Amino acid sequence: MAIYTHKNISALTKHIPNNSGIFVIIDKHLSSYFSLFHGLPLIKLTATEQNKSLETVAAITNRLLKLGADRDCFIIGVGGGITTDIAGFVASIYKRGVRFGFVPTTLLAQADAALGGKNGVNFDNYKNIIGNINQPMWVYETPVFFPSLPPRVFREGIAEVLKTFLIFDAAYYKKAVKFFSTYNPKQQSDKSVNAFNDILAKCGFYKSTVVSKDEFERGERRKLNFGHTFAHAIEKYYNSLDAKVMTKALEQKNYKPIKPSFMHGEAVSVGIVMAAMISKAAGHCTQNFIDMLQQDFQSVGLPVDCKVELNKLLKFIRYDKKVSGHRIHFIMPYEPGHVEDELISLNDLYKLAKEAEKKIDE
Ligand SMILES: NC(=O)c1ccc[n+]([C@@H]2O[C@H](COP(=O)([O-])OP(=O)(O)OC[C@H]3O[C@@H](n4cnc5c(N)ncnc54)[C@H](O)[C@@H]3O)[C@@H](O)[C@H]2O)c1
Repeated sequence: MAIYTHKNISALTKHIPNNSGIFVIIDKHLSSYFSLFHGLPLIKLTATEQNKSLETVAAITNRLLKLGADRDCFIIGVGGGITTDIAGFVASIYKRGVRFGFVPTTLLAQADAALGGKNGVNFDNYKNIIGNINQPMWVYETPVFFPSLPPRVFREGIAEVLKTFLIFDAAYYKKAVKFFSTYNPKQQSDKSVNAFNDILAKCGFYKSTVVSKDEFERGERRKLNFGHTFAHAIEKYYNSLDAKVMTKALEQKNYKPIKPSFMHGEAVSVGIVMAAMISKAAGHCTQNFIDMLQQDFQSVGLPVDCKVELNKLLKFIRYDKKVSGHRIHFIMPYEPGHVEDELISLNDLYKLAKEAEKKIDE
């Protein structure tokens, strides 16, 4: 899989093979950019988790058939992670698989979702439960779509960039913190685009290198789950609270869409800090490291606390799909650029969480 970073979309055609047909599966929220793909058939979708479904896969397949897409066609998925996950899955199964590429339009998708070949959809309230691993031919990254991105959606992507550098590269971690603490995605200059592309290219290099060594996540790739054990628990905890608020509002006929208490990247930010607290309790990292993380994440607009005790979150970790036989692969940070994959029992994690909590109270 190749990763291309560009200032704008004009070099895209260079990367499209000479196929019999090119089809663009694109997020409807990107209507102001549709003209950039002039002349190409656009299959538009509403990118919600509800629509990340087999029904959407069927509807897109129908459109492809009606448009006459054959086995030599090329599919381009343009949008955030929802769109690239769906587009990659459709391309992987349409006529037993056609070639595809991605143009991710959120920072989270550029740093994470569009890289690594995990494609799929949700099913019966289970997230990403149907899917496959199949690499796109390329991922084309550009900040050109960011001006329309809601600031909170942009910022949550920073967590995945910082996570990658905390795992692999201390110098780029510092560079990225400095860059994102002043970067304004709505006002871009040549200098900021170049600096952004340099950071994204490095981030993509690390993710694609680890994926090429361990595509099916049986070893080194697990490190990319750094911060995600607590992040998933935070998301589950707050999703259930958000759902209660919503149900009450519906009962009182006072329906207003609510903003999620924690978006995925925000939960990852807090999850990384919590992982560091566990690591300190285990004697691996220092308080200075935790202080540095908190300061850095706050400087780029990310949360560092979720107001729920570590111990309460453990209840949700028990049902994490990465738990097997009461043990979990926990990614333990030591210092910037150094994490270890440690298989620990849930009981030990519980004890470390208690220890970490005690230290905060002291
Ligand atoms: N395949 C993987 O390895 C992987 C990894 C992480 C996450 N994911 C998946 O990615 C999804 C989340 O991805 P995401 O955060 O990129 O979100 P998303 O696709 O939900 O996009 C977030 C919101 O921003 C809108 N949007 C996207 N780009 C825009 C732009 N440039 N301007 C204006 N609006 C825009 C979308 O319509 C949506 O409302 C989840 O479904 C998750 O499961 C997959």
